[in-house]
Amino acid sequence: MIYQLNLREVTYALSEALDYVGIDDIMHGKRVACIACEIAKKLGWRQSKLDKVMLMAMLHDCGVSSTGVHHAIVSQLDWEDAYVHCAIGASLLHDVPFYDGFAEIIAFHHTHWEAFEFQIDEEMKLYANLIYLSDRIDALRSQFGAHLSHEKETIRTIIQTHSPSMFAPKLCEAFVEISHRDSFWYYLDSFALPYYFKDWIDQGEIQAIHFDELKKIAMMFAGIVNAKISYDAQHTVRLASLARFIARLYNLSLRDQETVELCALLYDLGKLRVPDVLVTKTAPLSDEEHIRIRRQGFDAQIILGQIKGFEKIAKTVSLYHEAQNAKEKGIVDDETSKPLEVRILTFAHTIDALMPLQKSEMVETLEAVISEHQLDPIIVPYIATYLDSYHPYLASNSLHVKDFDA
Ligand SMILES: [Fe+2]
Ligand SMILES: [Fe+2]
Repeated sequence: MIYQLNLREVTYALSEALDYVGIDDIMHGKRVACIACEIAKKLGWRQSKLDKVMLMAMLHDCGVSSTGVHHAIVSQLDWEDAYVHCAIGASLLHDVPFYDGFAEIIAFHHTHWEAFEFQIDEEMKLYANLIYLSDRIDALRSQFGAHLSHEKETIRTIIQTHSPSMFAPKLCEAFVEISHRDSFWYYLDSFALPYYFKDWIDQGEIQAIHFDELKKIAMMFAGIVNAKISYDAQHTVRLASLARFIARLYNLSLRDQETVELCALLYDLGKLRVPDVLVTKTAPLSDEEHIRIRRQGFDAQIILGQIKGFEKIAKTVSLYHEAQNAKEKGIVDDETSKPLEVRILTFAHTIDALMPLQKSEMVETLEAVISEHQLDPIIVPYIATYLDSYHPYLASNSLHVKDFDA
């Protein structure tokens, strides 16, 4: 189906998930976008180039899912493995038609100005170096502060010391000039930063976006979350496929089937704000750690709720997480009071968790889960067939529809 969306708004909202990777040092991507755009404006770049800078800069660190890697990025000026997240980010962007044009630039967003090969296009070099310079200004701001005059002077001095080796002289000169304006630094405060983007987002064109294109954007963000869950890199994509299949079995409208699929791809965005160590922790969690984990649904809803046209997705994701949190606290909810989309999402999640089980246990549990979620058991045989062909383990163990007929 076709969705009427403002791509500036979609990118701004979803890039908040990337900003979460900083945990307490959030909004890195947006500060980089603000710095880069101000430098580009000083150089007189036209609006279409400024738009590209804004979008690219917000997404520039999409190759970073780990809170540990983020910490390294903002606490050092340069490091040996910087190219790793550049390559990952470029490959993610390459798969999304709307962002494909950014991939090559993001691949070079930590390349020193004097290290570029001569054959690389001049404009592309300048875009990449602008992102790099803005990124390092924000890293220095995080390291030294940028409130007092001497702190700002420290940042200017370090940047100038590394030009032209790391940064293009004309970009540095523009930065030094605009950095004498107080408002340049005020806008980088998390309180003021959203106001910097407001008009730009409001003036964004509403575009007709096909579901397949939207799904590619959602898949990109699902991939970023999956990269954090290193023990199961395909979790979200598998869940989305299963949830969509179940939604179709229940004859949901095409629009609602797509909603369920997008929810499954995006429900875990808040996980990017959970410290790496908690994602894989197997020991009992402290109260503080439980609170961190439970908050992820709220954080996902805050992101998705900002997108006009995503109201149902944000609501479904929020209700899903609320139900999970209630279950964890031992609260028994009335399943029939929940929207079918929420129950499907929960059911798909439960089935996914059953994958490693033995066949007999799987059959028993699947029936119990259907009953627990107050879903119509008529779909059980179809799910069994689906799993049979989908999961290599199950295929090899021949779980067939007849197993559920008895
Ligand atoms: Fe980076
Ligand atoms: Fe960065």
